[in-house]
Amino acid sequence: MSPTAANQTTEEAFQDTIQKLAALKPIGHSRRQTDVITGFDPEWAAKIPEATKERFQKYGIDVSQGYPYIPVNEKVPKFVDEAYAVRNDEYPFVERGKNADPEKKLLFDAAEDIIELTPYIGTEIVGLQLAELTDQQKDELALLIAERVVVFFRDQDLSPQKQLELGHYWGQVEVHPQAARVGPEFDGLTVMWHEYARGRAAAKTLFKSKTSSFHSDLSHEHQTPGITHLHLDAIPDIGADTLWSSTYGAYDKLSPALQQFLDGKTAIYRSMHQYLDRENPLKGPKYIEREHPIIRTHPATGWKYLYVNRSFTVKIVGLLPAESDLILNYLFDVIETNRDLQVRWKWDNTLGSVKHKKDDKEKNVYRGVSALWDNRVSNHSVAFSHEALIGRHGTRVTSLADTGYFDPNSKSQREALGLSLD
Ligand SMILES: [Fe+2]
Repeated sequence: MSPTAANQTTEEAFQDTIQKLAALKPIGHSRRQTDVITGFDPEWAAKIPEATKERFQKYGIDVSQGYPYIPVNEKVPKFVDEAYAVRNDEYPFVERGKNADPEKKLLFDAAEDIIELTPYIGTEIVGLQLAELTDQQKDELALLIAERVVVFFRDQDLSPQKQLELGHYWGQVEVHPQAARVGPEFDGLTVMWHEYARGRAAAKTLFKSKTSSFHSDLSHEHQTPGITHLHLDAIPDIGADTLWSSTYGAYDKLSPALQQFLDGKTAIYRSMHQYLDRENPLKGPKYIEREHPIIRTHPATGWKYLYVNRSFTVKIVGLLPAESDLILNYLFDVIETNRDLQVRWKWDNTLGSVKHKKDDKEKNVYRGVSALWDNRVSNHSVAFSHEALIGRHGTRVTSLADTGYFDPNSKSQREALGLSLD
């Protein structure tokens, strides 16, 4: 029998309060407080874009109970120690690109065309279906993503189940305890539906607010995201492009003196989501914070890259706050403002080599577009184009990679490729 308030000891009353707090809705995202809806969302299933509906019907995704699925309250961590425990132990990771054929013959020979979108970032592969790749081709693709930062495939017939399977091949699939997903049986298949996210947000995103800064996903994780695969199955006619910036390139933009200063230093990476401190739950929000090298070496390419981003990196260890802010802001600027490090992708299924003519009998067959990027070596940002976000829907699978390391003997991309550093 639980004690009544009258005979509770202070410790019991304290524990009681903590349990009551834990039963409340999660504090949530630091910038996007949301309404309390858990389980299947009954209201939004009717608003799923037509193309998404076709994909889901074709592959047996049942949305009759509602869509998307929000993890139920009891399964969401409230205390910061619970949040740390979600993924704190090292998970064996195989860098699939490491032993792949450097010439990627099986992948390239099977493709109709390989289009390099800029000299050092962004490649489009034409005429290949991701769902049909062999394991060797998946290894070669992992190496290509590691080298080119982001790789695109248009005109894909890709089931949500297959997308998840690909993610498992490239690493431990990240299951976000709070994120909207396709259904309770689809852990790790995250719904990317801005219209829904905006519709649910308690504080509406206004046009005048800064809505998407360059960032790398989830860099507070112990094993940070490697290959991330966003498949848009419903695409607006125009707008809502995504930009990626190479952080191999950002490292090469620094002076040798600054590179030397940063080599071997570490920084603190802080989660977006907020939690309670079990010892002092009323003290205010707590975050997951982890330390990683600022300059890291990619296991597949062996190239050094700059591992910072404006959303998660909060402090360089060992520096005064003012020194840390100054240097971090400079590094963010290098990533965000050098256009030669960037590629801007237009989510459009009618350009390039896609051969769907108006009178094509297959014109009604669903096709989507995939982008696969290496989160370790990039920052990304969506060009919000507010009206164009209507009708944009996709599913995302993130494969977690290594814990991150710095090899002092590794080279930068330009050094390794024998390019001028002047
Ligand atoms: Fe992101």
